[in-house]
Order: sequence, then structure tokens, then C-alpha cells
Amino acid sequence: MFDFRKAKLEIHGDERGSLVVLDPFSLPFRIARVFYMFETGACVRRGCHAHKSCNEFLVCTSGSCKILLDDGHQKEVILLDRPDEGLYVPCNLWREMFDFSSDAVLMAVADQPYDENDYIRNYQEFREYYRI
Ligand code: TYD
Repeated sequence: MFDFRKAKLEIHGDERGSLVVLDPFSLPFRIARVFYMFETGACVRRGCHAHKSCNEFLVCTSGSCKILLDDGHQKEVILLDRPDEGLYVPCNLWREMFDFSSDAVLMAVADQPYDENDYIRNYQEFREYYRI
């Protein structure tokens, strides 16, 4: 069963503009880390990994990019092009980010600190780790 969720985030808006909050009410986990990618080349493919246990929530806060999610059986490409939409990416999905617009800022919030040992960067290892 393919599992991904593109979530609509509540906008707190008034005549001054819009504000979105990421907190325990809007996320499926507690935030341990935030990082973001910007000035990504148009032909660049980032990510290309899965995780052993770290879950992430992605928001393209500016511009747009595409996220390929792969559970080992099915692949799905999701367009992120709104600052009030996010994508929950559980650890067990292979993900690739591509087609970044020149103004794209892709923010990732994660439920664990950075640990290179949590990464699975080889597709065959990903399938073996999750017994797919
Ligand atoms: P990398 O994992 O290669 O990015 P991608 O998701 O595109 O595969 O990360 C790029 C560099 O940033 C690499 O040297 C590791 C470092 N980095 C950290 O130090 N902390 C972090 O939380 C992240 C995500 C990356």
C-alpha cells in the first residue's frame, strides 16, 4: 500500500499577509531538526535516499519542485508549489527531489538529529533493508 500524505497547512492571514505555523498540532511528529535547500540547479536531483528511522515533512516555501516517492513497488511524483502545503515522507520511502524552480526553497523538518548512519543511499540496499 503506497503511503504518502500531502497536507494542507492552515494559513493565519489578515490584511498584512499570510503566516503558516509548523508545530505539534500541524505535524505528525516533534521537530528535532530543520534544514532547507535553495539555489538548486535546474537539472539537479537531490535526495536519492531513504532513511532507517528518520521521518520528514517537506514544504516548498518558495517556488516549486517535484518529489519522487518510491515504496519499492510504486512510484509517485508530487509537485510542491505552495508554502501552505506539506508532504509527509516517512523513513521507508525512497525520495528524489528535482525540477527545482530558480526561486525554490525546499524546507525539511525532521524528527531526528542528523545522522549519516540513518541514510540508505543505495537503492538495492533500500529494498533489502525494508525486505521489499
Ligand atoms: P545531503 O545529505 O548530501 O543532501 P541530499 O538530501 O540532497 O542528499 O547533504 C548535503 C550536505 O549537508 C552533506 O555534507 C551533509 C550535510 N548535512 C548536515 O550536516 N546536516 C543535515 O541535517 C543535512 C540534511 C545535511
